[in-house]
Amino acid sequence: MSRRIPVGTVDELLPGQRKLVFVDGRSIVLFNIEGTIHAIDNSCPHNGASLASGQLDGCMLRCPAHGLRFDLRTGRMPGPGGLAVGTFLVHTSDGKLELSIDESSTALSSAPACKATT
Ligand code: FES
Repeated sequence: MSRRIPVGTVDELLPGQRKLVFVDGRSIVLFNIEGTIHAIDNSCPHNGASLASGQLDGCMLRCPAHGLRFDLRTGRMPGPGGLAVGTFLVHTSDGKLELSIDESSTALSSAPACKATT
């Protein structure tokens, strides 16, 4: 079962921007990539570093601590296997942003393709 949690408005997260929110004791980062909102846990699965300031290349986010890269659409590292960060579905309703929080916290986003160069 999942719940929708309001986390702000669409106007607060324009393309190219990111936003850190706290929901149920979790730190979650939202990214607006060319108009599509992605949300991930703000904790790298490698060693727990904050991902909020990671460098973006399309939908690929590089952890600032040791450089592992994660696809914001799936939470997974490129290639088979590897680590994965939790992702959350993001809904927009009447200009408001809502996160879908699932008990498992690993819902995959259904986002369109991004222009990653690597
Ligand atoms: S903590 Fe993120 S790559 Fe090591």
